[in-house]
Amino acid sequence: MFMGNTDYSKAYMSGYGEPRGRTAYAKAHAKINLTLEVGRARGDGYHTVSMIMQSLRLWDDVEIELLKDGENRVECNIPFLKADTRNLAYRAVLLMEERFGLKQPVFMQIRKKIPIASGLAGGSADAAAALRAMNKLFSLRLSTDELMKIGAEIGSDVPFCLLGGTALATGRGEIVTPLRAFPMTCVILVKPDFSVSTPWAYQQFDLEGPQPAPDVDRFLKAVESRRIESLQPEMINMLERPVSREHPEIPEIKGRLLALGADAASMSGSGPTVYGLFRDGDAARAALMELRRVYPRRYTILMTNTENPRYQQRDPWLAPDTGA
Ligand code: C5P
Repeated sequence: MFMGNTDYSKAYMSGYGEPRGRTAYAKAHAKINLTLEVGRARGDGYHTVSMIMQSLRLWDDVEIELLKDGENRVECNIPFLKADTRNLAYRAVLLMEERFGLKQPVFMQIRKKIPIASGLAGGSADAAAALRAMNKLFSLRLSTDELMKIGAEIGSDVPFCLLGGTALATGRGEIVTPLRAFPMTCVILVKPDFSVSTPWAYQQFDLEGPQPAPDVDRFLKAVESRRIESLQPEMINMLERPVSREHPEIPEIKGRLLALGADAASMSGSGPTVYGLFRDGDAARAALMELRRVYPRRYTILMTNTENPRYQQRDPWLAPDTGA
């Protein structure tokens, strides 16, 4: 169970014995989509989107070490993530080398804790962390804005992953505007044992008839009003319905999360992860135990919470009857 508080990354990364070169470490936070509106197909292979993104207290560790000589190397605790350009973090390293004429080889270690191909932006978060680590390691002094421009060349979600916290992403997802931090909330993630390809999810969307779109202003007003229970009707992900046609497990998990006391639940990104938001930590822990009992072991079920790394603030939901 991932409870969020223990940062065991350093223990993992600091190998004993061998002398090491200069290193830079960066955290790669997972995200969920609180809303996801899809608009028209743009003709360049992308759709216009408008989505509220939220970072989670669940992260991969990315560490990059300068090597004296030899070739770039990548190591990951998940063996099939190889050092080739399908690995977004490695693509980030190559892009930085090319853009800034960096000649010295590096050794990148990735410890993955974010489930892969799950709609939680794990690959994009690793790429964002690799950009930040390369920026530090080679003392490039690039601003977050400059890194976000480079990140957009790697993937639509990378700029948000560089910014983190709560933000509105528009364009194809690469134009990111910070929003007031979403209150700290328990999050339960349920990932069934299949993956969803993002291009496929968007193709399914194109085949779908008209459907309701989320309203960002109404969503933000619901947050302001501090009534978490009023969020559910606003928490619309327009990829959820088309993806669910092929994967009925998704609405089934969502229904179960709500029945187990989630204040709101939705699919994240192009899925298949479904999350539930719980204001009450005890209710979330009870739901976690029940979900682990009913779903097969192949399902990944984690408990974490929303996090706003830019603010370091703690702003939990207040019960509506406190009058606060
Ligand atoms: O940007 P990224 O590489 O993550 O996108 C993967 C694929 O998802 C795109 O090639 C496209 O098929 C689809 N996509 C889309 N509209 C977006 C983002 C992604 O159609 N806004």
